[in-house]
Amino acid sequence: MSPITIPPLSEDLESVLIDADTIQRKVSDLSRRISEDYKDSDGLVVVSVLKGAFMFTADLCRQLSVPHTVDFIALSSYGNRDYSSGNVRLIMDVRENLADKDVLIVEDILDSGHTLSYLVRNFTARQPSSLKTAALVSKPDRLLTDVKLDYLGFEIPDVWVVGYGLDYAEQHRTLPYIAVMNRT
Ligand code: PRP
Repeated sequence: MSPITIPPLSEDLESVLIDADTIQRKVSDLSRRISEDYKDSDGLVVVSVLKGAFMFTADLCRQLSVPHTVDFIALSSYGNRDYSSGNVRLIMDVRENLADKDVLIVEDILDSGHTLSYLVRNFTARQPSSLKTAALVSKPDRLLTDVKLDYLGFEIPDVWVVGYGLDYAEQHRTLPYIAVMNRT
């Protein structure tokens, strides 16, 4: 039995797009793949992009079977708007020195790609041994950059989604499922 209590949809949510069990199964798959790919690594640093990736990172790392550390970086390009300004702001940097480490960036969503693109450029300059990217969901119809994902959970249509870390004006981040906002 799932230890997660599933809250009902509130009025501002239209439907569940990806339910909690489906998310958990996908996170387990990704975690297994990542563990296999980094089995020979002697310095994996998982960098979680706050705030959105906090839940995905926690579930993913709990199931990694290879040694790793976790660090956090906070960026913002949306504010309370529903489109990316393209102007990514670094709010809080990682604490670890990434030089000569295997670095895995963990994002909740790839939308325009501006955030991940900024991070890949920024981290490459710190000379890690390797740099890879993971996101739970991606909206291919909205992608404006050529940034690539090494690990992806789900491709989704161009709808506004919340839950499992994703917010709308800071609401709904802690839902265990991903739901479509009712925007009417
Ligand atoms: C969201 C999300 C990603 C980014 C993706 O972050 O968590 O980091 O946008 O969008 P992009 O591909 O268009 O750059 P946001 O800036 O809303 O901050 P938050 O994670 O604190 O909600």
